[in-house]
Amino acid sequence: MQKISLEEIKSWERFYRANFINCLTGFKPVCLIGSISNDGIANLAVFSSVIHLGSNPALVGYINRPIAAARDTIENIRATGAYTINHIHPEFVDQAHQTSAKYPAEINEFEAVSLEAVYENDFAAPYVAASKVRYGLQLEEIVPIKQNDTFLVIGSIHQVHIDSSLVQPDGFISLEQCKSLASLGNDAYYETTSVARIAYAKAK
Ligand SMILES: Cc1cc2nc3c(=O)[nH]c(=O)nc-3n(C[C@H](O)[C@H](O)[C@H](O)COP(=O)(O)O)c2cc1C
Repeated sequence: MQKISLEEIKSWERFYRANFINCLTGFKPVCLIGSISNDGIANLAVFSSVIHLGSNPALVGYINRPIAAARDTIENIRATGAYTINHIHPEFVDQAHQTSAKYPAEINEFEAVSLEAVYENDFAAPYVAASKVRYGLQLEEIVPIKQNDTFLVIGSIHQVHIDSSLVQPDGFISLEQCKSLASLGNDAYYETTSVARIAYAKAK
């Protein structure tokens, strides 16, 4: 096994280092976050740092890069308090990836990448029509991370839209069935294969 020191990592070219460190923590969920500005401009961007924070209350977090690098999603969320998280499937992975481009705030990214937006009930933020697993969130808290000027954005689940055939009798969602994608680094996307479901572990 190769041993790599922190000094060596610091000396690497920045894109090589970013790729390596980003891959090190493993495969991640990859989703599209839909939001809308106070002026009514819909916004869509791809995010892979989505994390489960707890089930009761049902809380989901994601990490937003520093404002200078990724402004629109977090500013819309701050302004309206509403946003959606939408799973990505293989048939629209190219369009999903394209949302990572730096579009100006006045551009509607749903239209720019040709993904249909859908508004459900009275929820302000747009969903991705083609996504088979999508949920709306209400902003709870934005926690600044001072080490690198990023933000942990915490939302509570407001409503879920899902094909009921994916949900098992015990509440488990078979995401591999609808081909919700995972990602690695900032440019690689994966389908998944189930290896096992194993009963609750007890000390022996
Ligand atoms: C696969 C992938 C994953 C990404 N994950 C994140 C992420 O977790 N957090 C983040 O701030 N940006 C992430 N980005 C970059 C954003 O998609 C990009 O900065 C986008 O332009 C932000 O859009 P906005 O300014 O409309 O919010 C990711 C990009 C790609 C391609």
